[in-house]
Amino acid sequence: MENTFKPRCCGIWSALSKEQLNFADIINEFIDNARAAAATRITVHLVQTDTDEFSLEVTDDGYGMAREDFDQIFSVGALRGALAYKRCGMGLKVALANADPENLSWEIRTKTTNGECSYIGAPYAEQMAFESLNPKELKSLRRSGTIISSMLSRSVFERGLEGTESDEERIAMLVEILRVTYAPLLPKEQQEEEDSHLSIQLLWTPLLGQEQAIDLTALSPIWVQQNVGYDRANIVKHDSEVYAQYTFGKINPMPENWRFYRGDRKSAGLMVYLHGRLVQYGIFSEIWNCENPRQNDFLFVVSLNGVVTKLPLCNGGKTQLKIEDTKVHDFLRWVQQTCPEPLKG
Ligand SMILES: Nc1ncnc2c1ncn2[C@@H]1O[C@H](COP(=O)(O)OP(=O)(O)OP(=O)(O)O)[C@@H](O)[C@H]1O
Ligand SMILES: [Mg+2]
Repeated sequence: MENTFKPRCCGIWSALSKEQLNFADIINEFIDNARAAAATRITVHLVQTDTDEFSLEVTDDGYGMAREDFDQIFSVGALRGALAYKRCGMGLKVALANADPENLSWEIRTKTTNGECSYIGAPYAEQMAFESLNPKELKSLRRSGTIISSMLSRSVFERGLEGTESDEERIAMLVEILRVTYAPLLPKEQQEEEDSHLSIQLLWTPLLGQEQAIDLTALSPIWVQQNVGYDRANIVKHDSEVYAQYTFGKINPMPENWRFYRGDRKSAGLMVYLHGRLVQYGIFSEIWNCENPRQNDFLFVVSLNGVVTKLPLCNGGKTQLKIEDTKVHDFLRWVQQTCPEPLKG
């Protein structure tokens, strides 16, 4: 058949969903892929469709997915990444399988820059088919872009948003996570949107409520004392193709936050961004070899940029540095040398 394609490694949907991604990590994966496709405007649309059911739709204005790439896009492990945290060729499939473990409801609509519009939907299978869409059906996409959608159960929605008591609180926590995860790319609070690299809008509609639109701005710490620096010489074994922009010092704790900058043990220490995306936070004892006090307002925020192959590696879920990578060791040593005594001063 003309419109069919065969992804490699299928029949493993249940294995892909076993990774148990947090809800925020599912959304982040769609955002990361959109960014890699040069998207600058992303909308995350979340609607509560029943007491325990939600629909998620992520729309981007990137360059879309071309039909000749479908085989690769849907294969597990086809390497196509150009950003530091895109390495495995798995993220999209793992995120979809986590959103929709039953392999029933996920859908992708995409438009490429030459105007070709395609639809691919569940189930993920050994042999899949796409449909041609009339561009009129994708009016929300202008030149090009992609819409990824899925139904979600409550357990998926709540995963990783524990400690909250209502859906409003869960949305507030999700907003905080997104505002911190992409802080270097999002507009600052008082900045014009045009000056930033990325605009993310969250649209949230509760079951019996009005749609709320939230334009995400960067959530950054408020520093009390800070050292600001830039280094491109000593981070990874004197490799000048990696450079770091960093700030460290004491912050004004924000105890009203759910997760970040709280001035406590969990949120204090090192926060690492790779190509503008948070990949780990809360590293302390491993670097400075001293006890992480319960109240701790010390923060070291570093944004690493440069050649992908030279940057420290992170895990497939993009939530932690890969501790067995020697570049990670070099980098953590650089942090320690840049700030030998975090709790003084
Ligand atoms: N929103 C999107 N727009 C355009 N292309 C996309 C989009 N999402 C995914 N793709 C394509 O699908 C491919 C597979 O995505 P997937 O997330 O599985 O792997 P990856 O991003 O290359 O690596 P990783 O495992 O680190 O996420 C991408 O490399 C990209 O070519
Ligand atoms: Mg990906």
